[in-house]
Amino acid sequence: MSQIYVVTGAAGFIGSHIAERLLRDGQRVRVIDNLITGRQAHLDFLKSLNGDLSITIGSITEPETLRPVFHNAEFALHQAALPSVPRSIADPLETHRHCVTGTLNVLIAARDAGLTRLVYAASSSAYGDQAGAAKVESMSPAPISPYGVAKLAGEHYASAFSNSYKMETVSLRYFNVFGPRQDPTSTYAAVIPKFITSMLRRERPTIYGDGRQSRDFTYIDNVVHGNLLACTAPKAVGETINLAGGGRIVINDLVAQLNAILGTNLAPNYVAERPGDIKHSRADIAKARDLLGFEPIVSFEAGLRRTVEWYRERG
Ligand SMILES: NC(=O)c1ccc[n+]([C@@H]2O[C@H](COP(=O)([O-])OP(=O)(O)OC[C@H]3O[C@@H](n4cnc5c(N)ncnc54)[C@H](O)[C@@H]3O)[C@@H](O)[C@H]2O)c1
Repeated sequence: MSQIYVVTGAAGFIGSHIAERLLRDGQRVRVIDNLITGRQAHLDFLKSLNGDLSITIGSITEPETLRPVFHNAEFALHQAALPSVPRSIADPLETHRHCVTGTLNVLIAARDAGLTRLVYAASSSAYGDQAGAAKVESMSPAPISPYGVAKLAGEHYASAFSNSYKMETVSLRYFNVFGPRQDPTSTYAAVIPKFITSMLRRERPTIYGDGRQSRDFTYIDNVVHGNLLACTAPKAVGETINLAGGGRIVINDLVAQLNAILGTNLAPNYVAERPGDIKHSRADIAKARDLLGFEPIVSFEAGLRRTVEWYRERG
């Protein structure tokens, strides 16, 4: 039987993939986005799937806009945020408004609508720059940027709502998600779409720092898969869970892999590292395996090839 799912931030990268999957699965989907970083084109794509979709253009900072979106809904996948470390350093108050105040409004709307479960897009930035082979959920959070603090506050609010009200919440800490539809153009763009689009133009990719920093790059399909598992997994309620590929990709090696896929030989252009950037970020995904029954369904290499293809097709 189809159920009503709310996806916040569905004009964005991750939200649009979650909404797409739900529509393809025949679910009823309500989305809300204020297009601050999202794109109308992603909403048009969702419309083109001809599913049971309702779109609200509005902000999660406005409680009265949220009320009808959540009415009678069963599940919410809360993706809306200003997802950028440099942007949060430039304007911490704005990040707070969209990430913290917005999340609190979403939780209240979900509670008032009697929602069954809300899955919150948390972030690996909650760990900060702690040493250690892999980030595990039992570590104390230590965010080093205003963005990391804001995303962590959302997590704490989500678990407080699980404890305080008859409402289930799950926080999924994503690690460097990549894939088709990720915005390569903004000043705050993530590294993979930026590298791919510049290397497709035969331009050298710019690396902040020495390129020896590493990330647990997570292909989008794995994130969508984890979100759907989190909607129903009985043991996940009130929990914070890493959602990642569980691998370690060094930025210099990422450039080498892209050169191999593209048949290019472009040397990186190294510039000064950015404040707030974390040196190494890799997830321990044992808890996701245990509580969600999660296993990555697409490898980093396969995901990178699919992503390159997507950007190549769009010229
Ligand atoms: N991309 C990653 O690697 C990554 C990693 C960790 C966590 N996350 C989290 O995943 C979520 C989605 O990130 P993304 O990469 O798809 O970013 P994105 O910028 O593509 O999507 C965010 C969407 O939220 C919308 N939005 C922002 N503020 C809003 C508001 N006040 N009201 C309504 N809509 C609003 C934006 O317009 C955009 O469409 C975010 O919560 C982010 O913090 C992302």
